[in-house]
Amino acid sequence: MSHHIVEFKDVFFRYPDGTQALGGINFRITHGESVGVVGANGAGKSTLLQHMNGYLMPASGTVTIGDLRLTKRTRQEIRRKVGIVFQNPDDQLFMPTVFDDVAFGPLNLGMDEASVRERVNKALCMVNSLALRDKPPHHLSCGQKSAVAIAAVMAMEPDILAMDEPAANLDPKSRRSLITLLKTFKHSKIIASHDLDLILDVCGRCIVIGDGVVVADGPSSEILSDRALLEENSLELPLSLQRR
Ligand SMILES: Nc1ncnc2c1ncn2[C@@H]1O[C@H](COP(=O)(O)OP(=O)(O)O)[C@@H](O)[C@H]1O
Ligand SMILES: [Mg+2]
Repeated sequence: MSHHIVEFKDVFFRYPDGTQALGGINFRITHGESVGVVGANGAGKSTLLQHMNGYLMPASGTVTIGDLRLTKRTRQEIRRKVGIVFQNPDDQLFMPTVFDDVAFGPLNLGMDEASVRERVNKALCMVNSLALRDKPPHHLSCGQKSAVAIAAVMAMEPDILAMDEPAANLDPKSRRSLITLLKTFKHSKIIASHDLDLILDVCGRCIVIGDGVVVADGPSSEILSDRALLEENSLELPLSLQRR
């Protein structure tokens, strides 16, 4: 199914202050692949993910989602296909209640109220957060906000899922349920994380980003057991491989 393909070709991006964050990114993700994106702080992971739905637009090069090349004209359509969970949940939650935040996307799709309610409840259950339904998001803990931000994206039932450090604020139990959730999401997904054990568990493939370029791309089992490669990129072997 070509609509779940994600392709970056020679993607360059520079922030307005002159920082070149992406220096020619190339990769292609095919249907159903689960791909981890790892690298040092400032390597360009978040910048890369924000190109997947046109939140940022390449300065040069192309981003293609399914059959659509990302342009200002296709951006809205692409946003319906690609669900992105941002690194900071505060960038994503802005409504008076958790319910409203999770309902926002489905309502925008033009769904009727009963179906929206069903979607919201289902998505909140997925992240064990139904009890937070009527709370204002700014009263939540960091981890609770992260869980709600994930629910807001899952409620859109995206074709492709992109998550930026989804486990960073989660307690061990919530992290474990996130892993289960990610494993049950059968479409293409791309996950940026310093949690290399999570990547090893969830992603068959791993891309290492360094200074805005792809420095390695291969099976997670090979990439994440390559101590020298990881160290060059300010990373360490996953805990599960350190005991050997
Ligand atoms: N809004 C911004 N303005 C200027 N530079 C930025 C901005 N956001 C990120 N950067 C810079 O772009 C580079 C890549 O950042 P980022 O994509 O956030 O990396 P990562 O997610 O891998 O930590 C870094 O040098 C960072 O300082
Ligand atoms: Mg980041």
